[in-house]
Amino acid sequence: MNLCMIGTGYVGLTTGACFAEVGHNVICVDNNTAKVAKLQAGEIPIYEPGLEELVHRNVSAKRLHFSTSIEEGVDGSDIVFIAVPTPPQPDGSVDLSFVEGVAREIADVMKGYKVVVDKSTVPVKTGDKVEETIRRYQKRKVDFDVVSNPEFLREGFAVADLMHPDRVVIGSKSTRPVAAMKQVYEPFGAPIVITDINSAELIKHASNSFLALKISYINAVSVICEASGANVSEVAAGMGLDARIGKRFLDAGLGFGGSCFPKDLSAFIKISQQLGYDFRLLKEVQRVNTEQMDRFVTKIEETLWVLKDKTLGVLGLAFKQNTDDVRLSPAIDLCLRLQKQGVKLRVHDPKAAEKAKEVLSGVVYVDDMNDVAEGCDALVIATEWPEFRQLDLNRARQLLTHPIIFDGRNVFDPAEMEQQGFIYKSIGRPLH
Ligand code: UGA
Repeated sequence: MNLCMIGTGYVGLTTGACFAEVGHNVICVDNNTAKVAKLQAGEIPIYEPGLEELVHRNVSAKRLHFSTSIEEGVDGSDIVFIAVPTPPQPDGSVDLSFVEGVAREIADVMKGYKVVVDKSTVPVKTGDKVEETIRRYQKRKVDFDVVSNPEFLREGFAVADLMHPDRVVIGSKSTRPVAAMKQVYEPFGAPIVITDINSAELIKHASNSFLALKISYINAVSVICEASGANVSEVAAGMGLDARIGKRFLDAGLGFGGSCFPKDLSAFIKISQQLGYDFRLLKEVQRVNTEQMDRFVTKIEETLWVLKDKTLGVLGLAFKQNTDDVRLSPAIDLCLRLQKQGVKLRVHDPKAAEKAKEVLSGVVYVDDMNDVAEGCDALVIATEWPEFRQLDLNRARQLLTHPIIFDGRNVFDPAEMEQQGFIYKSIGRPLH
């Protein structure tokens, strides 16, 4: 099929490349001229495992194209996907101006029947507004259908998630666009859930909020573990074997961050409020998440006492493993809080250092993770990068002024760390 993807961010670019990979002809459109020029030259603006190869392969096969022209994209496609940012506003609601802007531009250039698909994460009832907008601004009164098709990919695993989705959700008012949408997704072999537009939009917010709730739940349990001497990893493993609970998203840590969960929680709370429901359960999820970071900073203070003029080494800046994304990263938040207290920082991230430099200055960026500990009063692990497990612990112990490690992501085994001579403090796991 001929598909147009408007927006070449994490969702648009990866989804476009995966659509091309299964044989569709895809044109990815973005209004950022410099970005499109880079993509046309084969440069990928984000780090996402497997994406670069995928883009190069499909560009060579002439199934994937890049353009700055919405008209070119819409003219040559049966289905037009909107995958533009929906950033948060200060009051927690979502800024839908990019979605509205693109809907107007599509309306302007539409010359025949199109299926317009909203892939951006939006509050329930946005589909109605997109339809209204296109109808209002259409230059030529041609037929069109609006569909909601939320995305569930995780950054760092986006290609795998897209190629093997758990489910595909298609929300539509009428049956007409559903056959075409099924054709798009058939090659992926996943269950396809057909709903009305409002339900599809809600599936996205309800899913992300539920996953955030699961993380806050285990983080709250980690507090009880610390108070009682139980081990949160063992509790999570025991809970997770119950098929009704499942073992994923039960890793206690510094809390969730990134460009999705915090924003989607606020947006879901806001839209619920507008619809007359005070979603206090989700407000608690937010509170637990904030407190988890407060508690970690307190743990550092309790051990090191006065933080002013201490030096800490921080491993991890990305909001999670396998990505260079630092948007609302708990690791960056932690660094900024420590800096405010006068702590000097030596930091390292396998992929996110360049992006971190835009938001975190006045720190020493260290290229090799094994050099971070040099002259530090303690080491902090802030992101769950798997390579941190390969840290040269002997060297770290020698380089540190004191052999103290604060592990905010439970990367190491407490018993082993103690054996290695470290004062080791992690999340919800007792000292031996
Ligand atoms: C999340 C969802 O998982 C995706 O399904 C969704 O498509 C995406 O948001 C989106 O709305 O676009 P993402 O934000 O990329 O994906 O990353 P996650 O893997 O969900 O991690 C989010 C945060 O939760 C990270 O800070 C991570 O460290 C934290 N987390 C995750 C935990 O603290 N514990 C866990 O057990 C799992």
